[in-house]
Amino acid sequence: MSITPTFLPTVATVDLTALVYNLSQFRLMLSPGCDVMAVVKANAYGHGAIETSRTLIRHGVTRLAVFSTEEGVALRQAGITVPIVVLGPIFQEQFGNLFGHQLTPVVSDPSVLTALGQAAASREAPLSIHLKIETGMGRLGLTQDELVALIRSHQFPSSLRLEGLMTHLADADGFDPDATEEQISRFHTTLNIVQEGGFQVPLVHMSNSGGAVRFPSSHFSLVRPGIMLYGYHTLPRTVEAPDLRPVLSLKTCIAQLRTIQPGGTVSYNRTFTAKCPTRIAVLPIGYASGLSRHLSNRGYVLIRGQRAPIAGLVCMDMVMVDVTTIPGIAVGDEVVLIGQQENERITAGDIAEWTGTISYEVLCAISPQIPRVYRSS
Ligand SMILES: Cc1ncc(COP(=O)(O)O)c(C=O)c1O
Repeated sequence: MSITPTFLPTVATVDLTALVYNLSQFRLMLSPGCDVMAVVKANAYGHGAIETSRTLIRHGVTRLAVFSTEEGVALRQAGITVPIVVLGPIFQEQFGNLFGHQLTPVVSDPSVLTALGQAAASREAPLSIHLKIETGMGRLGLTQDELVALIRSHQFPSSLRLEGLMTHLADADGFDPDATEEQISRFHTTLNIVQEGGFQVPLVHMSNSGGAVRFPSSHFSLVRPGIMLYGYHTLPRTVEAPDLRPVLSLKTCIAQLRTIQPGGTVSYNRTFTAKCPTRIAVLPIGYASGLSRHLSNRGYVLIRGQRAPIAGLVCMDMVMVDVTTIPGIAVGDEVVLIGQQENERITAGDIAEWTGTISYEVLCAISPQIPRVYRSS
């Protein structure tokens, strides 16, 4: 049974002009010869991986990075043909999709290298891979000892081609740059080990957005920006960031209005009590769509250009806001959860501050069920 499309009160608008602007601002910070591999994992941080990728490619991005083979397959099925690197761990069960869709795996474990080498042996051409080295993140990657053992043993599978060498920064946005400098130096050491072992690696990369802006010595041949493309960063205030524009805005509209008398309460567990006659607007968005429950009684939305505080606990699909001080309110009024309205603005960074997280999580949490509308200004 097909479902008839209906009116959708809640929409995430993705401003592709802002995306392209951020890309160009970010590029200004790069050393000559260093290129961008755009990180579009997690549905392009909630922005929609397919449209985001298409736009970035139209503006000169030649490589993408995703987390999983499944994310890579979805981009291939949408007709995207540029090289796609799969950053996340690879399982044997995913090898078929890697081969079938020309995805480039990041290998982080010697046993996966062996298994992948065996699986690729029947292919006509070697499979390009990127090797990940652990330099301080404590997550994925071969240790320096494992790398030395691999190079000395001359057991790098001939069915694989070492296209890339990479690592990942743990503290690029931290206050103390020393740990990052240390990671850069360790990475240089591992690059030397690989080159002295006779490998010419065309693609060398370590930096995310923050690392690329703050540590030019981390540029090598590629950098892997994610968050800055989407208009945010988490750098300390003392570090000069590029001029960025938030790409995504999230809007809904008022579903119902009611007046609560003094002593009346709002939402589950009655955590909001009216002190005076209070006008409450009901909004059709809740934590199932990514509006964090931590916003209960502490976040704001914008209505008629003014901030309206969230009243009571955020529900699964609804939230209530106090609109007592905003004149002229009506059912159907536009409500901005992220974005600009008249002279007021709420960013994913503001929501992150109110909820004790980072803009990344706020953006990624926006449910895929909320329609994304793409516009170029
Ligand atoms: C391996 C890797 N590279 C690059 C990025 C992009 O980082 P950012 O969004 O901070 O630019 C990420 C993000 O999580 C990542 O995991």
